[in-house]
Amino acid sequence: MAPYWNEKWGNSSSRQHREGLKAAAAVSMAREELASHLRVAPEQIIFTSGATEANNIALIGHARAMSEIHGKPGHLITLSTEHRAVLDPIKQLEKEGFQVTEITPQKDGILDLNQLVEVFKENTFLVSIMIANNEIGVIQPIKEIAQLCKERNILLHSDAAQALGHISLYPEFLGIDFTSVSAHKMYGPKGIGALIMRPEIPVQPLQWGGSQEKGIRPGTLAVPLIIGLAKAAEIAIRDLKDYELLVTKMRNKFLEELKSKISGISLNGSQDERLPHNLNITIAGVQGSILHKELRPFISCSSGSACANGAPSHVLMALGLNAQEAKASLRLSLSRYTTEAELKNAAIKIKDVINKLRSQN
Ligand SMILES: Cc1ncc(COP(=O)(O)O)c(C=O)c1O
Repeated sequence: MAPYWNEKWGNSSSRQHREGLKAAAAVSMAREELASHLRVAPEQIIFTSGATEANNIALIGHARAMSEIHGKPGHLITLSTEHRAVLDPIKQLEKEGFQVTEITPQKDGILDLNQLVEVFKENTFLVSIMIANNEIGVIQPIKEIAQLCKERNILLHSDAAQALGHISLYPEFLGIDFTSVSAHKMYGPKGIGALIMRPEIPVQPLQWGGSQEKGIRPGTLAVPLIIGLAKAAEIAIRDLKDYELLVTKMRNKFLEELKSKISGISLNGSQDERLPHNLNITIAGVQGSILHKELRPFISCSSGSACANGAPSHVLMALGLNAQEAKASLRLSLSRYTTEAELKNAAIKIKDVINKLRSQN
């Protein structure tokens, strides 16, 4: 990325001089590289500011286009455990007259496919179900979901922000029509992502003012960030198998360590169908806000999504936890750089803090 901040500072949309042409070539190369990592065509990539924007374009842009084609708004299906970057655009669509069905997953966070079959309607045109959940890490049976949609001529959008770089993600193989990705979930820069979609799918832009990204996402492209996104994907996908094996093993050992040291721990979400690096646990008999405050000097962890503003997690509550239990939960993420020693130390700190809080009760 570095040279594109200052030395190669051209605007990739300025094709009349060399600086612009160099930037355009770099974007074009990054597009091809990202496409090859995802096994899609370069024309299928729309660069955005992140997964939030990609979700908005896919959901609102496609819904409005379909409404125009059919002369009236149709029906969409989603999951109650989706990220707000899906639930909120869908809420907006509801205000615009679209019908919405929000399915609550099973207790382990995974969608029951029969439930999906039951809620399809004649006017359902879009299903939006994430591949992997950002809070509890559970992985949905996306290939089977895609098949059910395909049989009914319904398109599938999937927020894959948490999946890319952590599990194998090939949108065409999985049968996903719109895939939203983000660089900063796989060690790339913040403020860049992409929507992967076939160019013939109808989508209305959400903003106007330029012809970049086929007019679907007008505006000057963030050249250094795009290069960072492609590079982050390259590294993460290259190392994926080793990462998955190592981090899953370390994560499982960490959970065992926590369980052996602390009573009253329960894991939220399926243990098997889960992102390698994710743990989400509830601790009985402690007050969530105090737990997080006490842990802050030692561990960077949270109880929910960075976008939830400290409210109890809607994901955990959808699994049946009450607000107090949701707040007394820890979302702990390992990284490719996490060491065994750090995990050992973290388990001790968590145990000490919980023992202290329980002794004060
Ligand atoms: C599942 C999911 N979707 C969407 C987002 C938002 O992505 P971005 O920050 O790239 O807009 C996030 C990140 O917080 C996420 O975890």
